[in-house]
Amino acid sequence: MKREIITTGDGSTTIHLPEWEEQYHSKHGAINEAKHVFIETGLYPLLEKHSLEKVKILEIGFGTGLNALITALENQKLQKEMQYVGIEAYPVTVAEALKMNYADELKQEEAEEVFKELHQIPWEEAKPITPTFTLTKRKQLFEEIQDQNEYDLIYFDAFGARVQPELWTVAIFEIMYKALKQEGILVTYSAKGSVRRAMQEVGFEVERLPGPPGKREMLRATKK
Ligand SMILES: C[S@@+](CC[C@H](N)C(=O)[O-])C[C@H]1O[C@@H](n2cnc3c(N)ncnc32)[C@H](O)[C@@H]1O
Repeated sequence: MKREIITTGDGSTTIHLPEWEEQYHSKHGAINEAKHVFIETGLYPLLEKHSLEKVKILEIGFGTGLNALITALENQKLQKEMQYVGIEAYPVTVAEALKMNYADELKQEEAEEVFKELHQIPWEEAKPITPTFTLTKRKQLFEEIQDQNEYDLIYFDAFGARVQPELWTVAIFEIMYKALKQEGILVTYSAKGSVRRAMQEVGFEVERLPGPPGKREMLRATKK
């Protein structure tokens, strides 16, 4: 599928799929969305609730690596022992990924080095990216994930239900529920009623919370 790079509302880039009229991130701001949904509404509340020293994160849709980058950089402050698994069936090329302007826009020490490293490591192997952040990139369909009771946190960042409705179903959330530990949480930018109901059907407790810029609400689901 054809991929084009566009600039979003906060100055950070994303990939646009013209055939689907869909983006890898919010048009209102890729970095702002990633920070709000995954870090501020996912990672920090998880750590406030549970005093974890080791944190295991599953990302649904590794894509450009923005969420992994922001998480690795945030962990320079948090200093947790973080293991991050990014699932992606259709990886972007390293050359494409390195055209994204995240390292410049984040203006954080080591951003460039970390971003390059997370794209250049091989797939299917756990590799340390920083002293506190180990990444495993798995080339796999979400539908085929079989991990059980492994993760504290899931970043559910699939393309929207408008273009991939099959990824926002009871069957997929069942896989996510199994992959999480008890009290583990899943965050997503979506706030659709049908998504919330599918999550509740598999046993998640679901909260509707303020969304990132340009979006009123988002969802956070806890495994009970
Ligand atoms: C919204 S983008 C992810 C954006 C990413 N988190 C980032 O920070 O750039 C969704 C991703 O899911 C991938 N994808 C779509 N369908 C998939 C499937 N069935 N299994 C695995 N990956 C899939 C796409 O290739 C795309 O990279």
